Amino acid sequence: MTRVLGIETSCDETAASIVERGADGVPRILSNVVLSQIEEHAAFGGVVPEIAARAHVEALDGVIDAALLEAGLTLDDVDAIAATAGPGLIGGLIVGVTMAKAIAAAKGKPLIPVNHLEGHALTARLTDNVEFPFLLLLVSGGHTQILHVAGLGQYERWGTTIDDALGEAFDKTAKLLSLPYPGGPNVEKAAANGDPKRFDFPRPMKGEARLDFSFSGLKTAVRRAATELAPLSQQDIADICASFQRAVTETLADRVRRSLERFRAMHPEISAPTLVVAGGVAANQAIRAELDRLCGKHGFTLVAPPIKLCGDNAAMIGWVGLERFDAGMLEDDPFTFAPRPRW
Ligand code: KG4
Ligand code: ZN
Repeated sequence: MTRVLGIETSCDETAASIVERGADGVPRILSNVVLSQIEEHAAFGGVVPEIAARAHVEALDGVIDAALLEAGLTLDDVDAIAATAGPGLIGGLIVGVTMAKAIAAAKGKPLIPVNHLEGHALTARLTDNVEFPFLLLLVSGGHTQILHVAGLGQYERWGTTIDDALGEAFDKTAKLLSLPYPGGPNVEKAAANGDPKRFDFPRPMKGEARLDFSFSGLKTAVRRAATELAPLSQQDIADICASFQRAVTETLADRVRRSLERFRAMHPEISAPTLVVAGGVAANQAIRAELDRLCGKHGFTLVAPPIKLCGDNAAMIGWVGLERFDAGMLEDDPFTFAPRPRW
């Protein structure tokens, strides 16, 4: 049996979690504490790095205590300490990694620096026992990527964004429309009452063979529509949101369809391959529904971790630590490992 304490401080969530893989091989989340700083940043319409770093300093030890308490364990009961070491905001990364180093040194336990994206990538193995290889669509506030996940630590990027990330496009659209931060969920809420056909926003990169994304042209089109219509009625805002959401969903669908075909050609031996969707934007129901439809059509199984585990959390970080610990894939000298904001 293996148990790992995970720590996540790369953006605006201070999080700690204990995960375990029992003797039966089944993964379990024993605790998953996420303290959001949303209120501290809301007035600024986005995450302020300096405020985030200070908030992590204030909150982290309490959050770790809460995670241990919820699991009914002490630090002596865990086998290793895993912390997000990048990519992310440098101030927060330093807080999390330094805390993890201190605990690991004091308790004589292995320290495992974790890549935040690997956390999102492997969540589906924690929640749904997904086997390698699988196809991953990672859509968050900082990343929009399609990855071929061949095994632990074996990731091949098939596509990425050449400008804004998808979550960022949602957040910027929200800001343009004066919707509250964080933008994604509020755009989705407004879109529910809107007409997705009122505005014909661009579908960037649609039809292109390479699997990359681009969302900045879409943002410009949203800005133009909002400026032309100002002052905006509630209905205008809803219609813009619905049309925006439809445009991004169709763009995603085009890229994903090509990726499914490529994965099939690469792995003819797998009869029902898996597409995993991860990252905060995976909480979007319209996007999930479209991915569901595509997977059904192409004979893929869609795995979307529970919404709580799609956004940033420490269970996913602990899980990467656990997989690496069990596989013996540890850093030679983790105590000299410096946080990597652009990892
Ligand atoms: O993975 P995440 O929690 O943080 C990182 O970026 O790593 O993702 C946060 C992003 C934000 O941009 C947020 O607006 C977006 O996910 N998001 C959504 C929804 N919920 C969160 N975007 C669209 N629809 C949603 N329901
Ligand atoms: Zn994230």
